[in-house]
Amino acid sequence: MSKIELDKLRQVYGIRNPQTRKVEDFVALEEFSLTIDDGEFVSVVGPSGCGKSTFLDIVSGLSKPKSGSIRIDGQLVRGPALDRGFIMQGYALFPWRTVIKNVAYGLEVKRVPKRERIGICREYIDLVGLNGFEDRYPNELSGGMRQRVAIARSLAYDPKVLLMDEPFAAVDAQTREMLQDELLRIWEKTRKTIIFITHSVEEAVLLADRVVVMTPRPGRIKKVVEIDLPRPRTAADMRASSDYSWIAHNVWELLQNDFDGGDARAPAGADAAALASQIAPEAEI
Ligand SMILES: Nc1ncnc2c1ncn2[C@@H]1O[C@H](COP(=O)(O)OP(=O)(O)O)[C@@H](O)[C@H]1O
Ligand SMILES: [Mg+2]
Repeated sequence: MSKIELDKLRQVYGIRNPQTRKVEDFVALEEFSLTIDDGEFVSVVGPSGCGKSTFLDIVSGLSKPKSGSIRIDGQLVRGPALDRGFIMQGYALFPWRTVIKNVAYGLEVKRVPKRERIGICREYIDLVGLNGFEDRYPNELSGGMRQRVAIARSLAYDPKVLLMDEPFAAVDAQTREMLQDELLRIWEKTRKTIIFITHSVEEAVLLADRVVVMTPRPGRIKKVVEIDLPRPRTAADMRASSDYSWIAHNVWELLQNDFDGGDARAPAGADAAALASQIAPEAEI
């Protein structure tokens, strides 16, 4: 668990203009400020290319922002570290390592003794429902199972924060729902701070305490929507909930209105109260 403070993140890429052949600045992220509480689950939604991965790469420490800062528990982030687990869309497992060896990786880096390591690995393999598959290689697993291994691997070395970039985008709808339920269950149990990127509004609302809605060109925060739905949640329960549908509908509307001028330039970190005022009273729960 950990508190994350993002202050005015800005990212600029150099893009070659094919006509002039000059490299021009492209602002991918601007004025991105947000504070995420200890143990909070925050989803980020926005259209493809709006800067979601750019943002998460910065939080992971894999890339440096042009300006702005990230603090985790008050400490300035200067690069990747084991306090953050990163789970990407493409499972990024080591193909030459078995499931248990993949899960063990972060623990090896942390120099956890072998006996202890095996115990921890088994615990997390159990948590993601992969008992009996410890000695399989990634190419012997389905997409959903591989993503479970990636989750177990990230949890096993006990990072304070989990960063997930469209982790369920490549699996079929049924598996996706199972993984969403599993992630909810795991989060209830571990209470990690989670930043979850998705382009699915339904997924964002199902999982999160707050949903950050982004606008493209440049990537900014349009609104932060408080998701005041009861927990524990499951995908099936939420599908049957009119409150859930109503909130998801409102987030959709926010995304649809991306190009209607002034609102897209709402100050970063705009709070949920503004959205709450747009939501009809019957949406209150
Ligand atoms: N390394 C890079 N060099 C140049 N442009 C980039 C680079 N990475 C991303 N971009 C551009 O920045 C924008 C945001 O990209 P990205 O963060 O990947 O969006 P998202 O994850 O929301 O789909 C896109 O227009 C993309 O083409
Ligand atoms: Mg992306």
